[in-house]
Amino acid sequence: MCGICGVVGTRPAAPVIFEALRRLEYRGYDSAGIATLVDGQIERRRAAGKLDNLERVLEAAPLAGTTGIGHTRWATHGVPNETNAHPHSAGQVTIVHNGIIENFEALRAELEAKGRVFLSDTDTETVAHLLDQYVSDGLPPREAAFATLRRLEGAYAIAMIFADHDDMLIGARHGAPLAVGFGDGEMFLGSDSLALAPLARRIAYLEDGDWCVLTRAGAQFYDERGEAVERPIQQVALIAGQVGKDGYRHYMEKELHEHPVAIGQTLQRMIDPATRRVVLPELPFDPESLPRVSITACGSAFFAGFVGRYWLEALARLPVDIDVASEMRYRNPPLTPGGVGLLISQSGETADTLGTLRSLRAAGQHIMSVLNVEHSTMGRESDVVLGMVAGPEISVASTKAFTAQLTVLAALSVAFARARGLIDAAGEQALVASLLDVPSRATEVFAQGDAIRAMAAIVAEARDVLYLGRGICYPIAQEGALKLKEITYIHAEAYAAGEMKHGPISLIDRSVPIVAICPSTILFDKTVSNLQEARARGGRILAFTDAIGAERLRGIAEVIVVMPDVDPFVAPILYAIPVQVLAYEVALLKGTDVDQPRNLAKSVTVE
Ligand code: F6R
Repeated sequence: MCGICGVVGTRPAAPVIFEALRRLEYRGYDSAGIATLVDGQIERRRAAGKLDNLERVLEAAPLAGTTGIGHTRWATHGVPNETNAHPHSAGQVTIVHNGIIENFEALRAELEAKGRVFLSDTDTETVAHLLDQYVSDGLPPREAAFATLRRLEGAYAIAMIFADHDDMLIGARHGAPLAVGFGDGEMFLGSDSLALAPLARRIAYLEDGDWCVLTRAGAQFYDERGEAVERPIQQVALIAGQVGKDGYRHYMEKELHEHPVAIGQTLQRMIDPATRRVVLPELPFDPESLPRVSITACGSAFFAGFVGRYWLEALARLPVDIDVASEMRYRNPPLTPGGVGLLISQSGETADTLGTLRSLRAAGQHIMSVLNVEHSTMGRESDVVLGMVAGPEISVASTKAFTAQLTVLAALSVAFARARGLIDAAGEQALVASLLDVPSRATEVFAQGDAIRAMAAIVAEARDVLYLGRGICYPIAQEGALKLKEITYIHAEAYAAGEMKHGPISLIDRSVPIVAICPSTILFDKTVSNLQEARARGGRILAFTDAIGAERLRGIAEVIVVMPDVDPFVAPILYAIPVQVLAYEVALLKGTDVDQPRNLAKSVTVE
C-alpha cells in the first residue's frame, strides 16, 4: 500500500515525482524518497515521516535529472526510518516497491553468501541486490529485470532505474496495482491514475504478472513469461483540481460535505428519472433464481455490506452470507455455484477483498463489485461493476464513499426485490422516491453542527466510548466506533443495543459515554429500554434520532442530534453522516492528524 511513481521525461523529474507523491501520500506516509539519474549516476534523497520532511531535504539538496522514481511508504518490513525508506539502491540499480516479497529472507541469505552487504531491514533492498547481481553478471537491464522478477514470490509493484541508462524505466506488477501514463515525449509510472492524472490523460494498466519497459518514445509491455503483449490505453477523466481541499481545513471535512453530492451522483447513475426505476448493468445471472449472495469487504466497506445484508434479506428475501474479506477468503464456506459474490471497496485494490474475489470466482460465483475506482483491479476482474460515483476520496478515513456504497446497495436491493416479484412498480417507485430524498436531507444534517460539537466535547474527554444501534442501525454504530478509533485514537466499541445487557453493561459508568443511533423506527422502543438500562447505571447518553425520537429521549439523553425525518429504509445512509462528523469534531478537539492518522494507509494492498 505504499505509493510509487516514476518518470522518464524531458523536464526536471524530481518536482514532477514529488507532486505525484503528494497525490499518493494517502497510500502511506511513514517515509518518502526520490532517486534520479544525474549524468548517468543515480542520486537519491530520502526522509523519514511525511512528504514535508522530504520537501525540506530536497530544498537543501535539490535533485537534477529528467528520469527518476519516487516512493511514499507504509512500513511493512523495518521501522519507518530513513535507512529503510525507499528508493533502495545496490550498485548500478535503484528501485521502489509496493507490496511484500515473501521469499526475501532466502534471497537475502543467498546474496549475502555472495558477499553482498545489506544496509536496511527491508525486503525491497533484497530485490535491488538481486537485480544488481544480474546486471553485474552482464545481463542488460531488460533481461536482468526479467530474471529478477522470475525469482520473486509475493505481491509487488516495482519501478527500477539503472545507472547509465537515462532513457529507461522498468515497471512490474504482481498483485499490487501499477499504471503507465503516456505523455508527450515523456512516460510515467504510478500506483494509480490519481498519481498520473495531471501528467497523462492516456493510461494503460499492467495486468497481474505484467512488466513494462518505458523510454521517452513509449512503452513495451511483457507478460510473466516475457512475451511482448499489448495493453489497452484508456482516457482518464480525473483532473488535478478535483483533489484539492477547496478551502476546507482537511480533506475529511471537504469529503464529509460531499456526502450529498456523492449520494446524488450515485443515484443519477442508478435511477432512470423518467420511470423512477433502478437501472442495473446487464447481469450474467437471473436475480429471480439467485440462490445466495456472499458479501465481503474490509473496514467501513464491510459495515456498508452489513447494512446491505439487512436490505437484501428484508426486501429481496435473498439468503446472504457476510464476512470480512480476510476471514471469508480462508473460510471455504459451502457455496452453490451460480450465487453472487458481492465485493465492496472504495479503492478496488484492497488485497484481502481482491483475494476473496478470486476465491469466490473459483467457487463458481458471479462476481459483482461495488467500487469507487471502477477501473481498479477489482473492476477489471468483476463480471458486473456497480460504480459508486463518489469522486476521489483522499482522506484516509472513508466518508462519502461509505454513503455512496450504501446508496448502491439500497438501489441494488430494490432492483432485486422487483426482479424477484416481491414489490411492484409502485413499490419500487416509492422506495426510489425515498432514496431520491436523501441528498437534500443530507445537506440538512450540517445544520446540526452545534449539537454534534456538544457531543464531541463529551466524547473527547473519554477514554472509552460505546456505540449502540439496533437492526439496520447496528452497522452504523460500528462505522461510528471505527471512525472514532481511527482518527481520534479513543477506544470505541459498537454493540447491538440488545446485546449490551449480556456483558458490556458492566463497563458503564459516568466516564463511558454511550452514543446511540436510534431513529424512531420499528425497534426504537426496544433501544430506548436499553438506553434506560444504561442511564440507570450512570451512563451518559448521546443520541442521534429524529424529532419524534427526541421527544421520547428528553430526560434520558444528555445531548440529542435531531435528524431530518426520512423513510426508515434510507435512515442508515443519512445517520452515517453525523456519526462521521462526530468523529471529525472529536479529532479537531484532540488535535490529531485527521487526514493521515497514525499507522494507517488508505489503500491496503498487503494481506
Ligand atoms: C475506514 C477505512 C477503511 C477502509 C478499508 C477498505 O475509514 O477507510 O476501513 O474502508 O480499508 O478499503 P476499500 O474500501 O478501499 O477496500
